[in-house]
Amino acid sequence: MSKTESWGTRVGLILAMAGNAVGFGNFLRFPVQAVQNGGGVFIIPYLVSFLLMGIPLLFVEWSIGRYGGNKGFHSTPFMMQSLDRRRIWKYVGVFGIFSNIGIAAYYTFMESWTLGYLIHSIKGSFNGLDQEGVVNVFNSYIALDQATLFQGESLVLFVVVLALNVFILSRGLSGGVEKVAKIGMPLLIGFGVILAIRAFTLKSGVDGAVNGGSVGLNFLWTPQFDSMWNPKVWFAAAGQMFFTLSLGMGSIHAYSSYLKKKDDIALNAMSAGWMNEFVEVVLGGAIIIPISIGYLGIDRVVELASAGGLGMGFKTLPYLFAQWGPILSIIAGIMWFGLLFFAGITSSLAMGVPVLGFLRDEFKWSRLKAAIAFGVIILLLGLPTVFFFNQGVFDEYDYWTGTFSLFVFAALEVILFSWFFGMNKGWREINAGADIKVSVVFKFLLRYITPPILIIVFVGAVITPEGNDWAGAFQSLMNGGGWDFDNGSLIGKIMNTGLREQLAAATDPEVISDLKYKLLLTNLSRILLMGLFVAISLVVRKAYKKRKKEGRGF
Ligand code: PHE
Repeated sequence: MSKTESWGTRVGLILAMAGNAVGFGNFLRFPVQAVQNGGGVFIIPYLVSFLLMGIPLLFVEWSIGRYGGNKGFHSTPFMMQSLDRRRIWKYVGVFGIFSNIGIAAYYTFMESWTLGYLIHSIKGSFNGLDQEGVVNVFNSYIALDQATLFQGESLVLFVVVLALNVFILSRGLSGGVEKVAKIGMPLLIGFGVILAIRAFTLKSGVDGAVNGGSVGLNFLWTPQFDSMWNPKVWFAAAGQMFFTLSLGMGSIHAYSSYLKKKDDIALNAMSAGWMNEFVEVVLGGAIIIPISIGYLGIDRVVELASAGGLGMGFKTLPYLFAQWGPILSIIAGIMWFGLLFFAGITSSLAMGVPVLGFLRDEFKWSRLKAAIAFGVIILLLGLPTVFFFNQGVFDEYDYWTGTFSLFVFAALEVILFSWFFGMNKGWREINAGADIKVSVVFKFLLRYITPPILIIVFVGAVITPEGNDWAGAFQSLMNGGGWDFDNGSLIGKIMNTGLREQLAAATDPEVISDLKYKLLLTNLSRILLMGLFVAISLVVRKAYKKRKKEGRGF
């Protein structure tokens, strides 16, 4: 029964929470976002978002989790409704299951790449390839439609990774998730520190490095204030901050729902949150960027970052490691892909915990049964990302479940917490059992600052005008010229303006049919995700009725 489930030790809890947060977000997504958004330009909105939204939301999510957990809820739908009686809140809470499933579907696929790359680093598969060659390995590795090199291996490893997740989840919190975090987190940090030191000491002219590590570090750390007023950078920075801290996902709530009423949350939340930031900004920022820029130069790295997003760490580092000689390249490969593997698995487990919690609370399923159900759902939803990677299905999942949903859920939950539940009550919750004194500044932020900023950044992303030219767009609106949405704006995305422009410009029939196929799959994957949301809502409704019938509250 989930009632008896709990964390083993405080250190274990903090490591598990840090493991939840530390993931591909820190090592793969952060560097790519930073590079895509201009390096030093990105870092200021990112840090400001952490202080104004990240920390306050950590307090909120830990509080909601512990509060709901003590009422017997281990996932967000009924937790939300326990804060305010309005029935709609449980459907808001659906986001806290939806995102975890949607993210896990592509995240576990990535997790399987780390295993594959670990094996190939040991086998020396990258030796003797040039940089293009390594990029091509990645392309043929993940896309089954062009798999030539390691036929079908990615699919097999995907299933292996899922089975591993199911197994660990079925062992429970202290016996499974916490144990993996206790082993994985220290190893990951150790590997990260060694690789970072190597990046710092990378000298130009040695081992084929053209620039040395410092050029990349300067790129990331020279603050530039000119794009500070660009909402797109803010959206990217805040989105990254949510993703990396696992905020707006329902995963933190689920972890903290296994706390006791008087257990501290203030200090725990800060320890796990700051540990994540250390790993992200210090280690995550010190590996891919300096090493790749050291060898390839800023321009090529910017190009790679915009072309392949999350794959950059797979496309660059194996080649660069190979320059360090046969032995060091194996050691570096084991450290980098081992680090990524632990970062990934401690996060994908965190996506499973709320799903298991829900199934066990509502339908009294055994841990094993619920874990297998999770594995099967993720396999089915993950397959489209495996088979149609090149048609952008993976990115579609990432955008809707890994960015869009987080904003919506985070905005609604903070409104629920500070405005409906009430900030005075909320403040008592945050401080109950606290081992540190939380500054009242956060009470003020949560009431007046965090909700509006979240809404402003989100609305900015929904209606971003063409080329991000806000002044021009307002002017054109005033003159009766209308408002052109940017391809990257939410509305532009929904209307597929980017793809449609490409389609309109294309003349080659083959390109046209490729683009049409891509358009079709993009739309289909959105329909699939919407279907998933509706399906979860129906299950929640059923659970609600069941509760009422059995007289179990709600
Ligand atoms: N925060 C994790 C990362 O940075 C991702 C994650 C998403 C973790 C959802 C848990 C739940 O990679």
